[in-house]
Amino acid sequence: MPTDTPIPDLLAELTLEEKCALVHGARDPEGRAAGYIPGVERLDIPPFRMVDGPLGVGIEGESATAFPAGLALAATFDTDLARDHGAALGRETKGMGMDSLLAPGTNLIRVPENGRNFEYFSEDPLHSGAFAAAVTAGIESEDVVATPKHYVANNQETDRATVDVDVSERALHELYLPAFRDAVEAGAGAVMTAYNAVNGTSMSEHDRLINDVLKGEFGFEGYTVSDWFATEDAVPAVNGGLDVEMPGITMAEMMAAMGGAGESEEGGPGDGETPGDGAGDGETVDQGGPPDGSEMPPEIAGGMPDPSTCERYAEALRPAVESGAVPEARLDDMVSRVLTQMASHGVLDGSREGGAVDTPAHRAHAERVAARGTVLLENDGVLPLDDDADVALIGPNIEDSLLGGGGSSETDPAHAVSPREGIAERAAGDVCVEYGLPPVADVSMFDMFAPGGDDEPERDPDIEGAAQAAEDADVAVVFARDTATEAIDREGLSLPGRQDELIEAVAAANSDTAVVLNTSGPVETLWRDAVGAVLEGWYPGQAHGTAAAAVLYGDTDPGGRLPVTFAPAETYPTADPRRFPGEDGTVHYDEGVFVGYRAFDAGAPKPDYPFGHGESYAEFAYTDATVDGDTLAVTVENTSERDGREVVQVYVRPPETDGERPVRELAGFAAVDVAAGERETVEVALAADAFRRYDEGEGWVVDSGAYTVEVGRSSRDARLERTVTR
Ligand code: BGC
Repeated sequence: MPTDTPIPDLLAELTLEEKCALVHGARDPEGRAAGYIPGVERLDIPPFRMVDGPLGVGIEGESATAFPAGLALAATFDTDLARDHGAALGRETKGMGMDSLLAPGTNLIRVPENGRNFEYFSEDPLHSGAFAAAVTAGIESEDVVATPKHYVANNQETDRATVDVDVSERALHELYLPAFRDAVEAGAGAVMTAYNAVNGTSMSEHDRLINDVLKGEFGFEGYTVSDWFATEDAVPAVNGGLDVEMPGITMAEMMAAMGGAGESEEGGPGDGETPGDGAGDGETVDQGGPPDGSEMPPEIAGGMPDPSTCERYAEALRPAVESGAVPEARLDDMVSRVLTQMASHGVLDGSREGGAVDTPAHRAHAERVAARGTVLLENDGVLPLDDDADVALIGPNIEDSLLGGGGSSETDPAHAVSPREGIAERAAGDVCVEYGLPPVADVSMFDMFAPGGDDEPERDPDIEGAAQAAEDADVAVVFARDTATEAIDREGLSLPGRQDELIEAVAAANSDTAVVLNTSGPVETLWRDAVGAVLEGWYPGQAHGTAAAAVLYGDTDPGGRLPVTFAPAETYPTADPRRFPGEDGTVHYDEGVFVGYRAFDAGAPKPDYPFGHGESYAEFAYTDATVDGDTLAVTVENTSERDGREVVQVYVRPPETDGERPVRELAGFAAVDVAAGERETVEVALAADAFRRYDEGEGWVVDSGAYTVEVGRSSRDARLERTVTR
């Protein structure tokens, strides 16, 4: 029976033990939730369930829509679509009987090799924040608690569990915090804290960044939840502002509950006994190690938390309150934050309605995002394909739809379309299929515990055969991909295996070659001048083949633009090992605010494809730009004979100042459909952040002087400029 008793009354009724049980995880009796808070039956408080993640609802053995990755969504530059996306995620979450989604992935893309970049949005804070806010608002609109993660500066997987991030206040405020602030303003009911430490303090217990900044400055009233197995000592975490600890059970219990390997509750070797902190004296806790009882595999050791170091809240919290180490008012605050979210989302009184999984509308939405987020990097006219062209369809993985990367965001759809199926369905000409290479195997942190699960299809592909097919066809379409997973960073920015070689051989045989990349972030495209066209389709989810075909054949104008700079690996600001992956346990953000295009604009070699870049099949002219207060208006004319989709981008260049500032910063953007020969007036709000800088002494400062407002097609393709004074 649900309850509508007011929260202060519930608090007054709860015993100390019951309060403690409401602020940490426990075993889900159904073994479905990633995070489970048991209810209090005597007071009609129902249980509360959290589930992953940003690409769709992932529950072992159950299917749900596999949506495109966060980066694909961000590449649409379409925040209305992102809000719909959040709403679809929210409906699937409650349709699966869950209350909170562990999404969106809100970390800034600092390191191009980060194994989780596909879950995140952008190298730019304004762009990241716009998507974090839109997805959050969408999830929350369905009465599901959104959980932007991982707060904050979780920008790499290598050593993520232990690494200390040495970062300036300025970079934190200008780059890493804004997207979390925007998600909070959009109504996030929860925020997940990160594994890493920032400037010497673990993010699970960061009093200043959680209590002062998140709850103070940003006014966050929801609950903070730890990343899984991230906490060590309960008292500093609780006093540092952490409201809910997860998962509250051992790794072995979690895997057993979720149907994974290892039924045993015994930990493996290396699981030390964790002494109490004084409050839980005499207690020893075995949190369990890897589920099969072995040591953590070396490939992911630094990327996985050590569950054996977690102090169990179940044992630690109550004595800590009794001894006064944690004030009871603080415990009440934690409980009240959880109950408030349960009440405002209709969980407490059972009033929440609806929910739907894998509906035709969700399938259509997944396809729309995948197509609209596809970026046309290069085109000499080979695209769009003629309907009746004879196509050589080439690539080691054309039989697989690329659902996402490995780790907690993995999803399992009921329905998926591979590139081969999508092209075969759409093509009117002949389609000749050649793999060229053996399949690129998916990587997942979970496979590290049980390697060798994938069955290799029996094939004997060869590059020469692919080149011959290309020569015999009108056009060649090559699908190429990378692999990425949570807990491990990519080794570099090259395509895995011999895919570069395959593309070069195919392009040499037929210059009308289009390459479709499906990657977790930037990759090097050394062959780009030899091919006719390059598309970047990211991790597109279950609609992979349909969406790719729609863009290749021009049914959809490629509306995507790059949310990350594409450049040779050694030219990124994090190419120095001190900056990534760090030295002696510390990663130094020495580049300050010069991340992404801010670094390339400041003098790094010219990138292959700059932030914001993306071609259209149509052509656009920009006229009549005006700035009125905080709004820029511009007329965009489609001067071609095809309908098209344009992304108007506005950047601000600051006046000369003493302090070092980026050459330009994104101030706003708008995606707009413009029919052939038509014009649209587009209004873009100019964000305050683009005009200000964070001074360590004074806080936010707007330097007075003349600012140049650029409007155009990318960070390096301004079409018009206006000057405004601040
Ligand atoms: C990840 C989180 C995820 C959590 C629960 C952690 O390993 O970092 O993003 O939500 O597990 O599965």
